[in-house]
Amino acid sequence: MQSVRFIGPGRAGRSLAQALGSAGWDVVGLLGRDDDQTDAASGVDVLVIATPDDAIGAVAASVRPNPRCVVVHLAASLGLGVLDTHPRRGALHPLVPLPTPEIGARRLVQGISFAVAGDPAVCRMVESLGGRALHVADADRAAYHAAACIAANHVVALLGQVGRVAGTVGLELDAFLDLSRAALDDVGRLGPMQALTGPAGRGDWATLERHRQALAPEERPAYNVLVGQALRLAADAAGRTGRDAGLRPIEPALVPNVPAAPSVAVTETLEGLSASLEAARARGARVGFVPTMGALHAGHVSLIERAAAECDVVAVSIYVNPLQFGDPSDLERYPRDLSGDLVVCAQAGADIVFAPSVHEMCPTWPAPTETLVSVGVEARDWEGASRPGHFTGVATVVAKLFAAAGRCRAYFGEKDFQQLAVIRRMAADLGFPVEVVACTTVREADGLALSSRNRRLSPAERAAATALSRALAAGRAAISAGERRPAAVASVMEAVAAAVPEVGLDYATVVDAEDLVVPARLDGHRPLRLLIAAQVGPVRLIDNCAAVVPLRADLASPVGFGLGRQAFNAGNDVVDSLAALAYPVGAVER
Ligand code: PAJ
Repeated sequence: MQSVRFIGPGRAGRSLAQALGSAGWDVVGLLGRDDDQTDAASGVDVLVIATPDDAIGAVAASVRPNPRCVVVHLAASLGLGVLDTHPRRGALHPLVPLPTPEIGARRLVQGISFAVAGDPAVCRMVESLGGRALHVADADRAAYHAAACIAANHVVALLGQVGRVAGTVGLELDAFLDLSRAALDDVGRLGPMQALTGPAGRGDWATLERHRQALAPEERPAYNVLVGQALRLAADAAGRTGRDAGLRPIEPALVPNVPAAPSVAVTETLEGLSASLEAARARGARVGFVPTMGALHAGHVSLIERAAAECDVVAVSIYVNPLQFGDPSDLERYPRDLSGDLVVCAQAGADIVFAPSVHEMCPTWPAPTETLVSVGVEARDWEGASRPGHFTGVATVVAKLFAAAGRCRAYFGEKDFQQLAVIRRMAADLGFPVEVVACTTVREADGLALSSRNRRLSPAERAAATALSRALAAGRAAISAGERRPAAVASVMEAVAAAVPEVGLDYATVVDAEDLVVPARLDGHRPLRLLIAAQVGPVRLIDNCAAVVPLRADLASPVGFGLGRQAFNAGNDVVDSLAALAYPVGAVER
């Protein structure tokens, strides 16, 4: 009978001691920190040092060497060097988790694999446990251990994420574990390439983007990295079979070694942005520019896609501009996700991403910026009144961006209607060679305008937030029903908001769509815009829509509207307004 003694009565040591005992070994004892360990190698065939990895060297050195005893450690990533005071040494690492001595002891005798090194006595231990010995050289042990940690600890960490994400929709982790078990079985039978299923494996970007939007910002980096891993596997599988993986290009930093994956170029300097767009224009390319603050959603994507459809080279800026935040905690909480945004930009058709540091854009930050661009009447009321300094911050940073971008078409969302008016005025007054293009607001199915801030709404607040678009619809309906007094239209909208307790209305108004001033009466001579802003839970939400005064009362016969093909196709909400008023609307070819 072989005899064995242990130093280190932790989970690993006790699991192995029990397992060897049940396999017929004479387990002589388990020594702890307070026991005298000097003669631990005497009188036994094997001494197992099962202490934490960083204690192994010191413990081994404190034990008097015995030429008849093999000293063995259980550390996966260490070689035999830590035992070099002993003439006979070995290493043994079981490839199973050992969460308790009882579970561990059972697992160790189930025919598992062990990494082994050194004295042949170690292989005899493995044999007596019915296991399989894998010889791992000292130089390879760190990589071997990394693989083992990914296989166990990282999978557990990932299931922690499954639990958190499932919890956000009221489901238990348990419901998802059959899926994990089946996926592991498939990997065992078919290998990872064949076992891969799901949207990343198919290159289904629309679905992946929906996932990203649904995930909390702190869950996205891990999600993106693993999408990258899935893509890599799919590309490897395609390479092996000669099939086209059907993958569209994606940011290579997330997909190491994926062959031929064109991506966005990232620059952090104004000079880099300026030089790359200058070079594009010199080649005759039409330049599109989409300024954003990142945390990109389908609203931003619609701007980038439109720019890509209308221009040859598209640059997107991603910069959370501190100058336009009044409340420092709002700035701090603003979601940031550059790695995810780069994937979205590449998929939407951007060529260049400008992601500057705060010092690139505001060299004096946090000291005040000395040169500011302030816009007049367009910036005065509404958001301008409720958020003092906001539009000065916007106009200053956009002026700096326009100066670097040079001649281009710049795409902005009608979602921020007053911002659009402020930027148009600023670009015209300062003479930037920039054509400002307005893009329709992208909404959820229930009417809520997409916004990076929507993620911070609780489910109840999210439901309440639809009051904004409902109020706009009510205001628009009042106008089409004949209401001509701006204050009465505002009251209709206010009543909708007041019916929802979670909604703290700031303003609801109808204004001239160009100068954003409330007209004395809605006479139908100039385009109108309904604007609304409200605090819902932790976030301030804004929305707006076009409104048209029906002319039917003033005309003898019904009229129809012909719109340029592009305006019609763009689904501009002028079209919606006209259609809502029962005017025939159609596209005309010019
Ligand atoms: P941000 O809020 O990131 O928005 C970037 C652009 O996306 C803006 O033009 C905005 O109007 C547009 N956008 C946002 N939500 C949209 C939606 N649901 N549908 C369509 N477009 C939408 O606006 C800013 O950043 C900043 O103020 C900026 C202009 C970048 C200056 O810092």
